[in-house]
Amino acid sequence: MLLDEAILSAWPRWPSYGPREVEAVRRVIKSNQLFAAGEVRCFENDFSTYLGVDFSVGVGNATQGLHLALAALGVGEGDEVAVSNCSWISSASCILMQNAIPVFIDIDPKNFGMDPLKLLEAISPRTKAIIDVNILGYPSNVVQVKEIAERFKIPLIEDASHGPGSSINRKKTGTFGDISVFSLQQRKAISTGDGGMISTNREDLATKLSQLRSFGNEELSYNYRMSEFSAALGRIGLEKLDFENSMRQSSALMLSEILASEDWVRVRLVNGDAVGVYYAIALEINLPDGLCEDLLKEMLGRGVPMRKLFSPLNKHSHFNPKSKPARGLPWNHPNYHGSMQSVQYKDLNFPICEEFCNGRVFELYVHPGTDELHLKAFARTLKELYFRYSPDKVSRRPNWV
Ligand SMILES: Cc1ncc(COP(=O)(O)O)c(C=O)c1O
Repeated sequence: MLLDEAILSAWPRWPSYGPREVEAVRRVIKSNQLFAAGEVRCFENDFSTYLGVDFSVGVGNATQGLHLALAALGVGEGDEVAVSNCSWISSASCILMQNAIPVFIDIDPKNFGMDPLKLLEAISPRTKAIIDVNILGYPSNVVQVKEIAERFKIPLIEDASHGPGSSINRKKTGTFGDISVFSLQQRKAISTGDGGMISTNREDLATKLSQLRSFGNEELSYNYRMSEFSAALGRIGLEKLDFENSMRQSSALMLSEILASEDWVRVRLVNGDAVGVYYAIALEINLPDGLCEDLLKEMLGRGVPMRKLFSPLNKHSHFNPKSKPARGLPWNHPNYHGSMQSVQYKDLNFPICEEFCNGRVFELYVHPGTDELHLKAFARTLKELYFRYSPDKVSRRPNWV
């Protein structure tokens, strides 16, 4: 056990930069042009080529990218935007930035993405955009979501922040929607500290996105530019992406084999026509209620980057403020008469999301450098902790999905 503690304390850190990244940063410093120049343009072109899309627009982060996507699509006051209830806050706070109304959708237990049937129930004449989120690099139901979007002529935004390189039927995540957005924040697969990329095949949107990004439109525009430093690092990250994704894929497979004989834990793998990139591995653990915080504390104390899946967005304080924000609450606006009118978001019911986010699903980060030694030490430690907390194997969730 002492040996395991030593191995876990050496869990690989991320990002892992080398001489190429140092040289790239030096190149930018020497150029004396730190924004809106060649590095950003090259990175945008490389990114478009990688995805197989026509246009990419570099921004300061994905939160800005999601905001610009809604602004470019003309989403605003009185409009509803459907979004998965299981994501980082940015996937939904961008809706408030346009003073529009979020309509949260419960998730599909198979892939943590938006449930298309729930989406269908939520569509209204006011729905002006759909934001489909790829969670942890597990491809979502974006094919079905796109069909619904097309049927109702609603623009589709993909929040592909976790998923660069993942695909469905060989079509890459981030190429299904009208606009897709990727995060390049420090923890992400392409890690630039802070950064974001917006991609689209529509020239009209690409033009508008570029204008809105940098003080360039008659309507309210922003300074949401990407720096040359981020772009220089992003170009290298993009070159390494497929190889590094394959290392994460190998880790996911290896961990699922190591834990295969344990019936209280399941490593989620992506099967069928989809390819997952395991930005983090999703682990389902059959823990008795209330014990997940203890488990996480122990694991984090040992240096293992493990977290609970996101908190359900409908509970977030942005949608349940104690006092009225300066911009008002868009769902309480006198001109809005839709189904979210005066709703208490925290009281809405999203059973799958509730269960998955509250101690059933955990994220484990296996960035490159994670090897068999780490994964076996992790599995032994997880087992030890599990049986310490759950000696009688209390089973509250006997059926895996
Ligand atoms: C799914 C998702 N979307 C958007 C974001 C926002 O990314 P950024 O930090 O680049 O603004 C994050 C950040 O973690 C995320 O996880």
